[in-house]
Amino acid sequence: MGYSYILPVTHIKGKTIELTTLLDTMKILVATEKPFAKVAVDGIRSVVEAAGFELALLEKYTEKKQLLDAVSDADALIIRSDKVDAEVLDAARQLKIVVRAGAGYDNIDLDAATRHNVVAMNTPGQNSNAVAELALGLMVYAVRNFYNGASGTELKGKTLGIHAFGNVGRNVARIAQGFGMKVIAFDAYCPDSAMLDANVEPVHSAEDLYEKANIVSLHIPATEETKKSINRHLISLMPKGAILVNTARKEVINEDDLLQLMAERTDLKYLTDIMPAAHEQFVDKFADRYFSTPKKMGAQTAEANINAGIAAAKQIVDFFKTGNTRFRVN
Ligand code: 3PG
Repeated sequence: MGYSYILPVTHIKGKTIELTTLLDTMKILVATEKPFAKVAVDGIRSVVEAAGFELALLEKYTEKKQLLDAVSDADALIIRSDKVDAEVLDAARQLKIVVRAGAGYDNIDLDAATRHNVVAMNTPGQNSNAVAELALGLMVYAVRNFYNGASGTELKGKTLGIHAFGNVGRNVARIAQGFGMKVIAFDAYCPDSAMLDANVEPVHSAEDLYEKANIVSLHIPATEETKKSINRHLISLMPKGAILVNTARKEVINEDDLLQLMAERTDLKYLTDIMPAAHEQFVDKFADRYFSTPKKMGAQTAEANINAGIAAAKQIVDFFKTGNTRFRVN
């Protein structure tokens, strides 16, 4: 049966864009190089079909061409870390909205999306517990010497420095407190009161955080400001036996600095959920002090997939039905 309704107008960069359209149906494409759990896809399908829309699925694609073909008739797109650049947006001639099912949206070219009159959103908070649990898992793995049989140490009583106190950072704080850690945090954009409410001690510079923490857990987004910002200057401030845990983005690390420092300081450990560009060098030089997951695993739980995937589907349906642009990032 045909389906028609009037979309509201939207405003992008001060320009009013008519979204009034007559539509038979809307095609929502889920394009995930790293697929959601099946139960999450089933949930997304239910939301999409209950709204009278059609779901298309492109999973585990290996070539960009597959994505370019799949987006050509999609009205909406749900992605994870999949790259949506100007070429993808050029190919997506019907596209009105792209939702990153997750927190970080550095994989979307926001300016290009705006130029193409495509609304970009994320689903903040939906996968943050999963990422936080993985961060604590990496910490346990580090203090127990990568489970190599040698006597390790405990997290209890250690100071954890949380770099950025957003949704993931707050969950890391909560779980770390269960381990009996002292938790401190630095976030230039977060008021002290939010940290104090969570029994976390605010510190007021990155330097202070790195100086005081036995373990630093990174939760900063990849932006022009943060790229390569975790550098020799900061990491060298960390005390003896320090551990750096990265479940954020590889781009925030200055890899050359870290490689040099780890060569100079045999006490330093680096554990990451985002494989560095220089992964092979880290493995060759520091096999007993370096660990990377083979593929980003932080948000890879059924619960996080369900939360983020269904939130994305609901945001798309709501956008088409009511024009709601809450969570818009461009
Ligand atoms: C995020 O930004 O939400 C996390 O990094 C998870 O990314 P993923 O969906 O690609 O696993």
